[in-house]
Amino acid sequence: MPALVVVDLQWGDGGKGKIVDLLSENADCVVRFHGGANAGHTVESARMAFKFHQVPSGILHRHVTGVIANGSVIDPDELISELKSLSEKGYKIGKLLISDRAHIVMPYHRQLDRLEEAFKGGKAVGTTGRGIGPCYADKASRIGFRVDDLLDVGNLREKVELAVKLKSAYAAALSGQLEMDANGLLDKLREWSSALSPYIADTSHVVNDMLYRGKNVIFEGAHGMLLDPDHGNYPYVTSSNISPGAVYSGSGLNSNARLSVMGVLKAYSTRVGGGPFPTELNDEVGEHLALKGMEVGTTTGRRRRCGWLDLFATRYTVGLTGAKNIALTKLDVLSGLRKLKVAVGYTYEGKRLKSYPSSASVLYAAKPVYREFNGWMEQLDEGTKSMTDLPKAAASYVSFLEQFLGVKAKLISVGHRRENTIVRGKQFLG
Ligand code: GDP
Ligand code: IMO
Ligand code: MG
Repeated sequence: MPALVVVDLQWGDGGKGKIVDLLSENADCVVRFHGGANAGHTVESARMAFKFHQVPSGILHRHVTGVIANGSVIDPDELISELKSLSEKGYKIGKLLISDRAHIVMPYHRQLDRLEEAFKGGKAVGTTGRGIGPCYADKASRIGFRVDDLLDVGNLREKVELAVKLKSAYAAALSGQLEMDANGLLDKLREWSSALSPYIADTSHVVNDMLYRGKNVIFEGAHGMLLDPDHGNYPYVTSSNISPGAVYSGSGLNSNARLSVMGVLKAYSTRVGGGPFPTELNDEVGEHLALKGMEVGTTTGRRRRCGWLDLFATRYTVGLTGAKNIALTKLDVLSGLRKLKVAVGYTYEGKRLKSYPSSASVLYAAKPVYREFNGWMEQLDEGTKSMTDLPKAAASYVSFLEQFLGVKAKLISVGHRRENTIVRGKQFLG
């Protein structure tokens, strides 16, 4: 049985939380394999709405084991408060495991994230400020703290003192000053050790064993393919790989295991933070999408930039991910627009581009080539249960993008909740 990876085909916030929660009904295990508290995944029902940052979204199903695997970075204070908030709201959750090999976002990573962004001025990435870049940089520089360090805090003084020296020098170079000394950091590590030790495990073993026993495993992608540091709009990207290949390194999944891919595609485009966005709309249509789609960042509360659906960019990410099935989300948000456009190509310096460009400066100057569609006025709601319930114009929009991308929209989401979904075939986990 192949495992399933859910991956966002644009710049994130396509509704992965909703889709993973929906699919988790049939899952035994949901794994986060990259990223950290920069992600914000919303799950809503009639009774509740919860914004997951580090805990896998499927965990509201009590039969699900949630795994935060080695490729993730753990912000312990945030994770502890996320777990507390779940329990204060009365949610009984499944079992949670945290990889002993995941790296820890230290308080100075958050501080350095802010200092670096300020130092870059007009060239800032517009990060979430969660210390993600500095933490992954330390992992690559081999000076990071890992979750297994929490099992041995008594032996960490020397390592902490070295980190303080290094990071103080770096903060000073960025015109800042470190906010915490070695003793303060050691206190924090002790506090995290007592709160998180019960969850720590060799999670690659757990994941491989689950698959060996024929269990259903979902890998919950974070962010979106165009934020991938290799394949996205570098340098306006995040710091962990998003493409399905990262599941293997980010969770320790053995290379014989097969993965099937469910792409998540919002029916229009949004982006948070800096970076090129050729189909961005700074007009009343952009306003419609932002207001009707409630496009406000789940993690930072920043307003998301909105634009027409960029199918040229999406065809590129479909190629990278190999997605044959997609969950098309937020189709309801397009109701009320008389005309719709989708980008089917770009021109650059007057010439049509053959492939999606790697360079951010080309993307900044690129002009979308649009195809226009009739819109629809009808609202899509609980009554929209099958393709035949869709207005004709909406069905044409869906079938055009399926053809253009070479995918099948197995799920079409027309509202926040699980029940606001057209399900076209149930065999997602196989
Ligand atoms: P994620 O990061 O991909 O999990 O997405 P976010 O949770 O950051 O943002 C998606 C937002 O859209 C959340 O507020 C969801 O509750 C909401 N949402 C998801 N699917 C739909 C949908 O089909 N229609 C509408 N109107 N909202 C949706
Ligand atoms: P989910 O999982 C949207 C963006 C940030 C910024 C860039 C780098 O909810 O889809 P970082 O803090 O990662 O160093 O910021 O990446 N970004 C996201 N945008 N949704 C996300 O996650 C994002 N995670 C990171 O806005 O532009
Ligand atoms: Mg989000």
